[in-house]
Order: sequence, then C-alpha cells, then structure tokens
Amino acid sequence: MAGCASQPGSPTPEAGILASVGRDFRQLTAHVKCWDRSTQALFEQHGIPREDCLLQNREELIVWCEWMEAHHIRSYLEIGIWTGQTISLLDELFTFKRVAAADTLAASVFGLPVRLYPHVNLYRGDSHDPAYVAWRQSQPAFDLVMIDGDHSYEGVRRDFEINRALPHRFLAFHDITGHHENTAGVKQLWDELGGHKIEIVRPHVELGLDHSTMGIGIWRA
Ligand SMILES: C[S@@+](CC[C@H](N)C(=O)[O-])C[C@H]1O[C@@H](n2cnc3c(N)ncnc32)[C@H](O)[C@@H]1O
Repeated sequence: MAGCASQPGSPTPEAGILASVGRDFRQLTAHVKCWDRSTQALFEQHGIPREDCLLQNREELIVWCEWMEAHHIRSYLEIGIWTGQTISLLDELFTFKRVAAADTLAASVFGLPVRLYPHVNLYRGDSHDPAYVAWRQSQPAFDLVMIDGDHSYEGVRRDFEINRALPHRFLAFHDITGHHENTAGVKQLWDELGGHKIEIVRPHVELGLDHSTMGIGIWRA
C-alpha cells in the first residue's frame, strides 16, 4: 500500500466527540493513500481514477470508521471494491467476523492490482445478476453492506432493491452528494429514500476544497 503524507483538516465537533471515546481513526488511517490531488489529476486525464488507492475522502473515511466502531459493525460486504484498498483497511481496523466483496474487477482491466485477504468471500461478477442474489442468499446477514459499484440511478437503485431484501442491519451508499455527473444518480436515489438516514459529508481537504466531492449515506428501514 503506497504511503502518503496526510493533510488532516480540523475534525468536526461530532467527530471529535466520537474520537474522544473511541480509537483515533485519523491516526490509524494516516498511512493509507486516499483520493488526493494525484488521483484527481488521473481522473481528469483518463475519466477514471487510474490509481491503486482508497477511492475515499479521508475526512469521511475517518467519521465512517467512528460510526462503524460505535455501531459494532462485525460483518461487512462491499459492492464495488476497486483495487481492494478500502475493504482491506476496514478489515485490518475491525477484524470482521465475516467479510465479503462483490465486483466485476474493472480495476484489473486498467492494469491495476486487485488485492484481497484470502479469507474475503469474493463474488466476481455483476451485482445485478441472479448469481449475485444466489451468492448472497448462501450467507448469513451482514451488519453493513456498502454499495459503491454501478453509480447510475438505475444501477444503484437495483443494488438497493436487491440488498434491502437480503438480511442486513445497515445499507450504505458512497457518493451521495452527486458531485460528479456520473454520481448524480446516487444523489437522486439517496434523496428519494425514506427510512432512517445518516449522512457523512465532509470537505475534501486533500483536494483543497471546502465541500465534499463524495459523501457517505447510511440507511436502515
Ligand atoms: C468507485 S469503485 C469502488 C471504490 C471502492 N469502494 C473504494 O472505496 O475504493 C467502483 C467499483 O464498482 C465495480 N462495479 C461497477 N459496476 C458493477 C456491477 N454492476 N457489479 C459489480 N461491480 C461493479 C467496478 O468494477 C469498480 O471496481
């Protein structure tokens, strides 16, 4: 995992409160490379973030980790893993009882390595296929399912509909701010959802911005 100098911003008040009672996730995640200026440059050049890193806003990752710790997340499924950096970091931090991934492994098409720990239960394929449902049905409930695969409105809605019908405690969505045109569908779905919703939206400090380019939404019925 490539290292990078972290550029921490000021924690938000609620993050500070959580950090004071739990682990210091700013420190625990400081060694990983998140979406920063080099990722952004590659994204603008190629239309994809052609880099082996966590496709996360560090500030949101930290608060998300605090939320996971506070909510005793012990099993985790990530739909859309890119090179596997986020799921691997979370597994290292939380030593999940069960961890699973679903992806078509598009990153490998772009010549990037996809690395997962051997104990990760990997479904390689389209998360909208009946084969995904059969794979999911063969497993117990997940505490948290992160939906970060197909970002089109139809795609993310389909992931939501499929996974809401399968056993879970929480569903999460990445990119709820719809900052880029290719994530606008996630915002549209997020805004339409009822139920209990938590938003983790923080300035993208590593891009020098005062607003989020991503955003994480956590949902339960
Ligand atoms: C934005 S990346 C995921 C980023 C990752 N969660 C992270 O935090 O670094 C999106 C991923 O979704 C996968 N993907 C897109 N559509 C998919 C689908 N229908 N089924 C499974 N995987 C899909 C792509 O292969 C890609 O790896």
